[in-house]
Amino acid sequence: MEAALIVVGGGRMGTALVEGILSSGYLTASSIVVVEPDVERRAMLRLAHDDLILVDTPEIEHIGEKTGGVLAVKPEVAESAARLLGGLGIQRILSVVAGIPAARLEAALPQPIPVIRAMPNTPALVGAGVSAISGGSHVTKADLDWADELLSSVGTVVRVPERQLDAVTGVSGSGPAYLFLVAEALIEAGVTAGLSRETARTLANETILGAGRMLVESGQSAEELRAQVTSPGGTTAAALRALEARAVRSAFVEAVMAAVERSRSMGR
Ligand SMILES: NC(=O)c1ccc[n+]([C@@H]2O[C@H](COP(=O)([O-])OP(=O)(O)OC[C@H]3O[C@@H](n4cnc5c(N)ncnc54)[C@H](OP(=O)(O)O)[C@@H]3O)[C@@H](O)[C@H]2O)c1
Repeated sequence: MEAALIVVGGGRMGTALVEGILSSGYLTASSIVVVEPDVERRAMLRLAHDDLILVDTPEIEHIGEKTGGVLAVKPEVAESAARLLGGLGIQRILSVVAGIPAARLEAALPQPIPVIRAMPNTPALVGAGVSAISGGSHVTKADLDWADELLSSVGTVVRVPERQLDAVTGVSGSGPAYLFLVAEALIEAGVTAGLSRETARTLANETILGAGRMLVESGQSAEELRAQVTSPGGTTAAALRALEARAVRSAFVEAVMAAVERSRSMGR
C-alpha cells in the first residue's frame, strides 16, 4: 500500500514526530510507514497505534508519486538510509539527522531528489516543538512548504540558511535538555529549602511551563518579563544577583557554543 509518509528510524525523534503528526490529525496512522529494525520498538509502536504500518525495511509498494520520506536515524546510517529510499523512488526526503549536510545526502542518492534538512526538538511529542528547516540544491518552494506543513503539525517552524543549522542545534535542538537540567536544579533547591520532593517538582515544572507560555504569548521580551518580577531590593533581585555572580549567562553561551561546535564537527 502506498504511504503518504515513510519515517526511517522509530527511535526517540522518529516516534516524537509520528506521535505529534497523529495527534494533530495531519495524517492517519494507516498512511504512515515506520521503518524500524528493532523488534521491541516496533512492538511498542504497535501497542500505541494499531494501524501504523511497521516494517524492518521499506518496500517499493510503500512508495507512490506523493510519498515523502523522513530520515530519523543516527548520523552513521543516514547516507545508507537515504540511498535505500532514493533507490525505491521516493519523491522527497526530510532529514532530521543532526550534522549531516544536505549535499552529503544528495551525493548518496542515485538520482536528484529534493532533500530538506530540519532540526526539530523533542517537545514535538507534545505538539510544542520548534524546528528550523533549510533546503538542499534540488529543493523547490513546494518541497519546503511540504516540510513546513509536516513539521507545523508538531510545533513552530522557522526557515534558515543551511549554514545556520548548527547554531539551531545548539539553541533549540539540544535546548530542552538545558531546561530539564534547570528543572532538576530547581527541584533540588526546593527540597533543600524544606519542600517535599513532590511539591518542589510541581512548583518547578509548572513555573517553567508558565514562564514559557508568557514568553510566547505575552508579546513581551524575556528581559521585560524578568524586570517585571524583579522589584528593587526584593527576593528575585537577590536570587538573580547570586546567579549572575556564578556567571550563569556566560555558562549558557558556552554550553550552546559547545553544542554548535560538536554539530559542526559531526558534519565534517
Ligand atoms: N533526540 C533529539 O532530541 C533530536 C533532536 C533533533 C534531531 N535529532 C536527530 O534525530 C536522529 C535520531 O535521533 P534519536 O534521538 O531519535 O535516536 P534513536 O532514538 O537512537 O533513534 C534512531 C532509530 O533509528 C533506528 N535505525 C538505525 N539504523 C536504521 C536503519 N538502517 N533503518 C531504519 N532504522 C534504523 C534505530 O534502531 P536501532 O536502535 O536498532 O539501531 C533507532 O530506533 C539523529 O540523527 C539525531 O541527530 C534528534
